[in-house]
Amino acid sequence: QERTYIMVKPDGVERGLVGEVIKRFENRGYKLVALQQLRPSRELLEQHYGDLKTKGFFPALIAYMLSGPVVGMVWEGKGVVVTGRKMLGETNPLASAPGTIRGDYCIDVGKNICHGSDSVESAKKEIALWFPAGVNEYTRSIEKLIYE
Ligand code: GTP
Ligand code: MG
Repeated sequence: QERTYIMVKPDGVERGLVGEVIKRFENRGYKLVALQQLRPSRELLEQHYGDLKTKGFFPALIAYMLSGPVVGMVWEGKGVVVTGRKMLGETNPLASAPGTIRGDYCIDVGKNICHGSDSVESAKKEIALWFPAGVNEYTRSIEKLIYE
């Protein structure tokens, strides 16, 4: 099954939106296979956001992500990478439709609450980076009520 890395950023954690993010993925039918709260190191964040190193906002992004603990999770299920991004909304919250997480809970791109992997490839890299010990494999008896 496809997996994605979803992370509640420090603003989302401080604002008490961890449960809201989890609830939406649970309600949709996706399966939670890993969850952790941690204060990421600068090195971990620079690896995670390695593709953005040349951007002008990179130092501000790292400072934002260092400002408090994050809650990282791995969700599993059909189409979870693309659908997860749709559930988060656009990078810029003001461009995000109401009904998405960013469209419902935030305003500025530099305080946009959550992260989601942008492809299956980056999801694999991010899951290996944030959960080097691996995720939890288990079966759910409700699977047949979610998938045809
Ligand atoms: P993530 O799911 O967090 O990776 O967001 P994304 O994939 O929608 O956007 P991208 O990977 O391009 O940027 C990563 C993060 O950098 C964004 O979520 C923002 O928090 C931040 N960011 C992106 N563009 C800007 C910008 O123009 N200004 C500021 N201040 N932050 C930005
Ligand atoms: Mg991204």
